[in-house]
Amino acid sequence: MAEYHVFPKYDVKLSLPKEVYFPSDDSFLMLDNIELPPNSKIVMEIGGGSGIISIYLAKKHPEVNFIVTDISYQATETILLNHRLNNLCNPFDIICANKLQSFYKISPDVIIWNPPYLPSDATSDALSSIEKNMLIGGKKGSEEAYDLIAKISESNISTVFYTIFSIEDKEIGRAHV
Ligand SMILES: C[S@@+](CC[C@H](N)C(=O)[O-])C[C@H]1O[C@@H](n2cnc3c(N)ncnc32)[C@H](O)[C@@H]1O
Repeated sequence: MAEYHVFPKYDVKLSLPKEVYFPSDDSFLMLDNIELPPNSKIVMEIGGGSGIISIYLAKKHPEVNFIVTDISYQATETILLNHRLNNLCNPFDIICANKLQSFYKISPDVIIWNPPYLPSDATSDALSSIEKNMLIGGKKGSEEAYDLIAKISESNISTVFYTIFSIEDKEIGRAHV
């Protein structure tokens, strides 16, 4: 069952089932730091979860088109619901996809990816696959973020890219967007 939540700082309302990532400090760090370059036409968010990041940006930029994906079908249904709940007029394409796998040719001005970024440890095996997709980025934690960077580069997409790394990944050393 979904719960209804309001995020007054961002003027976003969300319906959130427990199987979908509940916006947390990482989501807020991204919300507080992402700036769209002037004249952006298309923003793509990978792993939209509840949709909070794209919904917030769409409210600020009604002229921008959004493509929002998630590997979880339930997350994509939640994003659609939350798009309606926030009365957005922006075109929003919501797609259940694994990173860029379903896209042949795209040229978004901005790609956003708040990935699962925690390192796996002895307790991660007990997590469900949905929880792993939300939280675990690999052995070090940053593998999922780097994998998308490699795919963007292979696809020759020229874009502004926002992602996040965890301070728990010892090779990264500090959290940054
Ligand atoms: C840390 S949550 C972030 C959710 C939301 N963007 C936010 O900031 O609150 C990571 C999201 O990425 C999704 N995800 C994980 N692996 C993915 C993949 N390979 N392709 C697309 N989405 C993925 C998860 O289902 C989850 O919704």
